Amino acid sequence: MNNPAICVQPDADTPELLPILIAPNPILKARAHAVQPGDIERVRSLIPRMFGSMYKAPGIGLAAPQVGESLRVVVVDLMPNDQHQPYGLINPEVIATSQELATREEGCLSLPNQFADITRPAKVKVRYLDLSGAKREIEAEGLFAACLQHEIDHLDGVLFVDHLSILKRNMIMRRLAKEQRQKRDEQKR
Ligand code: NI
Repeated sequence: MNNPAICVQPDADTPELLPILIAPNPILKARAHAVQPGDIERVRSLIPRMFGSMYKAPGIGLAAPQVGESLRVVVVDLMPNDQHQPYGLINPEVIATSQELATREEGCLSLPNQFADITRPAKVKVRYLDLSGAKREIEAEGLFAACLQHEIDHLDGVLFVDHLSILKRNMIMRRLAKEQRQKRDEQKR
């Protein structure tokens, strides 16, 4: 997820960045695999690179399928008061949602420059494993709740535009395809 109001400079020691896939891409539509104990080393090296790519973009959340890794891993950093507050979530699950809904504008690093108002539960409880493999739960509201739901959606192949009517979704996807085509044409020149 991205938030145009937040612009973060990448750290000097940013690890090797991962290219972010742009929709439509079949990896973005696939259900990601749960992280197994045997994947933990891969995930430990993946997470810092995901943070690096997210800060560079800049974004406030990124899911592993967006960098071509079909694994249930998400990183989030809302940068409250311009301070880092990084969350690395392994196998995250939404285990409770409020009845109350909230609507906010969302964007996505895999759909650059596209934004739409999305309605979701206002509060969620999320269970996940941290980098040490410990089970954790967090309760989130506001932007944090929307961001967690947006990123966890990515693990099930769901993009924010999938919450819109087919008409609105097609409009955004066509606009994205056109802008990407123009960008490629400009790069060729
Ligand atoms: Ni996204």
